[in-house]
Amino acid sequence: AIRGFRETERSRWEPAARAALERAAAAAFPPAQPPQPLVHVLDLHPGGHVGPHVDSVKFCGCTIAGLSLLSAAVLRLRSCHGPCESLELLLEPGSLYVLRGAARYDFTHEILPDHESFFGGCRVPRGRRISLILRNAP
Ligand code: OGA
Ligand code: MN
Repeated sequence: AIRGFRETERSRWEPAARAALERAAAAAFPPAQPPQPLVHVLDLHPGGHVGPHVDSVKFCGCTIAGLSLLSAAVLRLRSCHGPCESLELLLEPGSLYVLRGAARYDFTHEILPDHESFFGGCRVPRGRRISLILRNAP
């Protein structure tokens, strides 16, 4: 589903990054279902994109949280039941988005490619973008 990227997983962070991730974890996850210790780091090329998908229930539990860094991007949610129902979120650098409930299971999510990257009619030029993605266990 992803084009133009590299990725890694990390569990060790310098103190400021650890503090930011802990704040994101506390805000996004139910205390009984915390994120897994390995954080998924996705480095998306300006020309890359994340196609529509629902994260596999084999590898991911009820909550996904993404810390979006470096350049703005548009995340689109599209209903799995009727493709006409969709909405976009503007992910400014430093923003945190949380997918749970219907957004986790009943909508696909995608990061739009540069040529489709508009929010409310305004163009959101895609640059290099790094996301730190927290997921809890199935
Ligand atoms: C994924 C994903 C979105 C993002 O890697 O499964 O949906 O914010 N990434 O990078
Ligand atoms: Mn995903």
